[in-house]
Amino acid sequence: MSDTPLEKELKQMIASEGPLSTAQYMALALGHPQHGYYMGRDPFGARGDFITAPEVSQVFGELIGIWVASAFQMMGAPGQINLVELGPGRGTLMADVLRAAKVMPGFLEAVDVHLVEMSPALKQNQKVKLANAGVRTHWHERFEDVPGGPLIVIANEFFDALPVHQYQFGKSGWHERMVGLDGAGNLVPGLAPDPIPPAAIPAWAGDAKAGDIIELSPERDDVAGVIAARIAGEGGYGLFIDYGHVTSAPGDTLQVLSKHSYVDIFNRPGLCDITSHVDFAALGTVFENAGAVVHGPVPQGPFLDAMGLDLRVERLIKNATRRQVRAIEAGVKRLASREEMGELFKVMAVSGRNNPTPAPFEGLSK
Ligand SMILES: C[S@@+](CC[C@H](N)C(=O)[O-])C[C@H]1O[C@@H](n2cnc3c(N)ncnc32)[C@H](O)[C@@H]1O
Repeated sequence: MSDTPLEKELKQMIASEGPLSTAQYMALALGHPQHGYYMGRDPFGARGDFITAPEVSQVFGELIGIWVASAFQMMGAPGQINLVELGPGRGTLMADVLRAAKVMPGFLEAVDVHLVEMSPALKQNQKVKLANAGVRTHWHERFEDVPGGPLIVIANEFFDALPVHQYQFGKSGWHERMVGLDGAGNLVPGLAPDPIPPAAIPAWAGDAKAGDIIELSPERDDVAGVIAARIAGEGGYGLFIDYGHVTSAPGDTLQVLSKHSYVDIFNRPGLCDITSHVDFAALGTVFENAGAVVHGPVPQGPFLDAMGLDLRVERLIKNATRRQVRAIEAGVKRLASREEMGELFKVMAVSGRNNPTPAPFEGLSK
């Protein structure tokens, strides 16, 4: 198969400037201005490469909408509030959130929606989806550009798309995993010749064995720190949902998806999705260090149950045809069952120091 346009460019880049870190490879594969995976396409759904929770069932976004409405109320129903979504995809989650949250008196009048999105193609989808939502809507490429004021931030499958650095342990210490070229000019994994300073390795990796791989993401930490500092300073809440682990541990979680199947990480760069599992322990530490209060993480299934999943489904099913009932039930199983998304996906919330613990975290254990 011939090289993708991005693959050609990466090979030239490596040939002239040397190997790329895994994080640089991931950032270009997703966000290269012309050839990045997200920049020119809608990758979701049965015909795309993967499906996310809001695309599985409207129930997901509606329950997040109830969470947002309750957070708004706990903030004292301010007259103006910024509702921010990071990585809004097709805009489905925000549309479902707004439909459910608008029953809260004063919410729609108070809210300015801010969508943080790097993809021009997906921005267009979001504009169409939210055209009739009845709210003021703004787009930004970076969270930092969202104006000040009390805020509620939501993000589903955003942090997994931010680049991770990988390091492998060997006789001479931790070496960064790189992407280079073999003799035939193919992309191949390799290790940086010099180890990184031991001080850069977190304490939890202290008992590593030869061959162990760890993943660190200063890129993720930077974004998380800015969000948490804003919530701590201005007051508000954040809700972050992603697949990942509760405890930091060695492991290579980088994964590439094409047409709903896992493929090699060098498979058709720019045409496949590349992500890694989120280390919620690391994320929580960054949030706390920035001054926010952390709640969870809890698995997605129990979170949705505690938000009233059964009740919501009962209502939806009432007026549904038999075929629709089957689709609703299949969607709910996918979102909440342990075998599918209910356990692997985690939900973490943050709040400002003066904001009460958000529902349903007071009653849920990690
Ligand atoms: C896996 S999709 C999730 C979409 C949506 N949240 C959902 O659940 O369907 C990742 C989203 O994050 C956006 N994204 C990825 N990296 C980004 C970055 N560095 N800055 C802004 N948006 C980014 C993508 O364009 C896409 O909208």
